[in-house]
Amino acid sequence: MKSFLALEYAHDTALPDGVDSEFRTPNALVERFLAEYTDPGDRVLDPFAGFGTTLAVAERLDRTGYGIEYDADRLRHAREAVSDDDRVRHGSVLDLDPSWVPTCDCCFTSPPFMERTDTRNPFENYAGESTYDDYLDDVERAFSRVESVLVPGARVVVDVSNMKHDGRVTTLAWDVADRVSNVLHFDGEVVVGWTAGEDGDHGEGTFGYGYDHSYCLTFTKPTA
Ligand SMILES: C[S@@+](CC[C@H](N)C(=O)[O-])C[C@H]1O[C@@H](n2cnc3c(N)ncnc32)[C@H](O)[C@@H]1O
Repeated sequence: MKSFLALEYAHDTALPDGVDSEFRTPNALVERFLAEYTDPGDRVLDPFAGFGTTLAVAERLDRTGYGIEYDADRLRHAREAVSDDDRVRHGSVLDLDPSWVPTCDCCFTSPPFMERTDTRNPFENYAGESTYDDYLDDVERAFSRVESVLVPGARVVVDVSNMKHDGRVTTLAWDVADRVSNVLHFDGEVVVGWTAGEDGDHGEGTFGYGYDHSYCLTFTKPTA
């Protein structure tokens, strides 16, 4: 795969009115990576399932999606997006146990984001408190739980962005790459340039985090 992609920031499936879906992953991005890294029949994990984008795209491509989601409302939507409710578990990836999901062949996911100066804990849906360093510890812990339910050689794609707010940059993508590299082999990043699609841009040519591009960090679970 090329290390640069240009995609329209658009969704081809709708959510019910009133549901805040601003930061849902565009289907086309998931499609690109699942087509590249998986085969029909493979099991695909999304430990931050959100509205079920990865799981729905996996099913559309004849793969089987398994997910974990912390937020009860999003869980409901994710379950509606797949043919079997039991494949989306309500819980925290930090507690992920191998009994929750079968061994998976690939992981495509996007974790909750945090700005360096924020004090709310994204891993508790911004309810509790956290520092940025604690957040990065949790990122590493989450992916070590993910690693435990993957086949050796499985590819892991983490969709993240740096964040620019009020002139301050949080190098989230690079910090996540660094911490996940402690548990999985880092293969490199694919830069995703976003063009405004039917959802429009989010002001000043950005797609939501102060930039017009994001990163898909790609990793492999070592075979030995
Ligand atoms: C960036 S969003 C994922 C969006 C998703 N790709 C989609 O298209 O809907 C991150 C998700 O992680 C969930 N989350 C936050 N903390 C979690 C945790 N500890 N375990 C599992 N999911 C969590 C959030 O509720 C949110 O839905």
